[in-house]
Amino acid sequence: MKNIDSYTHLRGESLFVDDIMIRQDALFGLCFDSPKAHGKIKKVDYTKAAALQGVVRIFTYKDILGENQIGGIIPDEPLWAEDEVHFWGQPIAFIVAESEAIAKKARALICIEIEELPVITTAKEAKEKGSFINAPRSFELGNTKTSFANCDYVFEGETFSNGQEHLYLETQGCYVEPKENGTLKITSSTQGPTQVQKTAAKVLGIPMHKIEVDVIRLGGGFGGKEDQATPWAVMAAVAVQLLNRPVKYILNRHDDLRMTGKRHPYNSFFKIGLSKDLKIQAFEVEFLQNSGAAADLSPAIAERTLFHATNSYFIPNVHTTVFSCKTNLPPNTAFRGFGGPQGMYVIESAIAAAADNIGIDKINIQEANLLKENDSFSYGQIATEVQAEKTWKTAKEKFDLKTLQKEVADYNTNNHQTKKGISVMPIAFGISFTNTPMNHARALIHIYQDGSVGVSTGAVEMGQSVNTKMLQVAQDIFGISADKLKLESTNTTRVANTSPTAASATADLNGKAVEMACNNLMERLQKVASKLLYVKPENITFQNDTVFVDGKKTMISWEAVIAQAMLERVALTENAHYATPIIHFDKTKEKGHPFAYHVYGTAITSITLDCLRGTYEIDAVNIVHDFGKSMNLGIDIGQVEGALAQGIGWMTMEEIAYDTNGKLLSNTLSTYKVPDIFSAAKKVNVLPLETEGNPMAIKKSKAVGEPPLMYGIGTYFAIQHAVKAFNKNHKLQFNSPFTPEKVLMSLYEK
Ligand code: MTE
Ligand code: HPA
Ligand code: MOS
Repeated sequence: MKNIDSYTHLRGESLFVDDIMIRQDALFGLCFDSPKAHGKIKKVDYTKAAALQGVVRIFTYKDILGENQIGGIIPDEPLWAEDEVHFWGQPIAFIVAESEAIAKKARALICIEIEELPVITTAKEAKEKGSFINAPRSFELGNTKTSFANCDYVFEGETFSNGQEHLYLETQGCYVEPKENGTLKITSSTQGPTQVQKTAAKVLGIPMHKIEVDVIRLGGGFGGKEDQATPWAVMAAVAVQLLNRPVKYILNRHDDLRMTGKRHPYNSFFKIGLSKDLKIQAFEVEFLQNSGAAADLSPAIAERTLFHATNSYFIPNVHTTVFSCKTNLPPNTAFRGFGGPQGMYVIESAIAAAADNIGIDKINIQEANLLKENDSFSYGQIATEVQAEKTWKTAKEKFDLKTLQKEVADYNTNNHQTKKGISVMPIAFGISFTNTPMNHARALIHIYQDGSVGVSTGAVEMGQSVNTKMLQVAQDIFGISADKLKLESTNTTRVANTSPTAASATADLNGKAVEMACNNLMERLQKVASKLLYVKPENITFQNDTVFVDGKKTMISWEAVIAQAMLERVALTENAHYATPIIHFDKTKEKGHPFAYHVYGTAITSITLDCLRGTYEIDAVNIVHDFGKSMNLGIDIGQVEGALAQGIGWMTMEEIAYDTNGKLLSNTLSTYKVPDIFSAAKKVNVLPLETEGNPMAIKKSKAVGEPPLMYGIGTYFAIQHAVKAFNKNHKLQFNSPFTPEKVLMSLYEK
């Protein structure tokens, strides 16, 4: 099935929040935020702003009828600051005016006095000062202490990976309308409609049933709208509750960059021990996560870092600890990979450090330690249907790694101003929300009396094409043409209590619910058709909009069966609930089986480095990826390519910078560089691995949204390889992104 949005996307006809028709009496909101990263609010003077013609009202925490609290996992974040501010860009007030321009003018007229307090911007400093979000977490397998004592090689090192801006094309935004009897309808660009509904109810002090949240689609989310779409919708909802007029609030890019959290920067300290045969015997890491000023999703992200700290390797003795460090940055949040990439970067760095010290190729250590069937992860899950070695071997053979390596070596012998580098990056990514209770979804299917079908689920479309996959599931079961199916917007009154669209698990969870609902409907329709044809229900199938008996086409159409079902008063609506079986996790022991399955793959990256300028080009990324049995290869390869580009951006050029006062310096697209067509890999080959696919994956088509981002880590090590080829004295550093500036410094260090 073609992506169902491609036609309207291409013509610019697809609707986003900013496109929907607003009521004539609608007002426009704008947030007034803190101009300091930490301090006591001494005085805020709103008089001039409030007096401006066209300003309707300015809202602060004092106007809240419910609770001034939006924290999801930990209640530590006010909607609007009360007497203290904890990050630059923290919301303090909400201006509502006749137009956006007036609200902006008014914002400039607000005077604020802040008594400044010391600012922490790095995780290291927070750790030294004992500033944490919550208690640290540790995973342990075997005994690292005794194992290190028996290792032939032991190396220690430090890594840093920087944050990353989501840069969804569509900025954060919402439109809120009052309905009758104190009810509201919120249209939001959110990955978590239920989170918006729940938080708005809490802040407004009204029950959830008075709030309807509707999501048409997102112009990208990438995790940035899992939790952080909520505050804007709630601000507008507070204003609507008190003004009884609609309010629209779309953040401009500048405000969005300044006020929202990003991927978490991590400082990490590792110790790795190996035996002579290059088997990794022991691995310890201390991760310092820069969480920002409030918890947001940090504890869950920290947890996923621990889950992925050994990537696709088996290590018998592991001890990993993560500290969520509280700093004065905007609360950092979910970003594609959800802490996994930060974990994998460290083990890859540790392997690179070990290889460099021993004087061998990193690839030899990687290959010697790949996960095998029935190996245990540090959190107790036993690895099954493991494709680590198979993707590695297939990549090695199909893309002829030996020849590639030889070409690189020859090139480097014959060239001095330019060098080539190569790396292999295996991945293993766990699929399921790490928080077991979140792994559920529902679907609501209506077959209308003319035979057309409406499908509702809790899934949010954000460019990953989950809606197309939902329709594919229904289409296959009903055996009807695509034009008979429509996917409805994601709406909390149709499908309630949803988990956010996240964890790459949306198609699995919601698709399984669609499958169950359609199968139930199908059972009824088979009965109806069997009576029409005087055969047994089990002999009936539907294909090409027609009833088939024992695989033979009949004269009875889908529409005729639906019409007959109406006459017989058969229910043509079905609702189904799916919850992932098997999974569990015991946080008191830090052991369990948290993931339905893992996704595997291997990427071979080759690059060319200009040793005069420190610039590099990615020649090719050759990937063997475990899709299971892909239900839509076009969409899935698109996800691999997009995630790869995003991963390469994170590792090479996207450099978030705050000054020591906590002010965001990389606050525009001229100071924050994202990959463009010139920096993309010149060739990307994606080869699907032939596998059975896991039954917990929808139609055995494995989750694909996040795992391929981590192929981008390979680019870091390919560049490092080339740098080392030019400068033998280069002491490896693990400080990403590896920007051309950093590369240049490394090339000429003595
Ligand atoms: N692809 C596009 N085009 N836009 C996005 O915002 N988000 C990613 C990934 N792919 C995203 C995307 C993230 S962070 C996740 S968790 C998954 O999609 C979520 O969707 P899924 O669960 O349907 O894979
Ligand atoms: N992944 C992504 N988003 C999440 C998760 C997770 O494991 N848990 C809570 N939100
Ligand atoms: Mo994705 S980071 O789980 O939204």
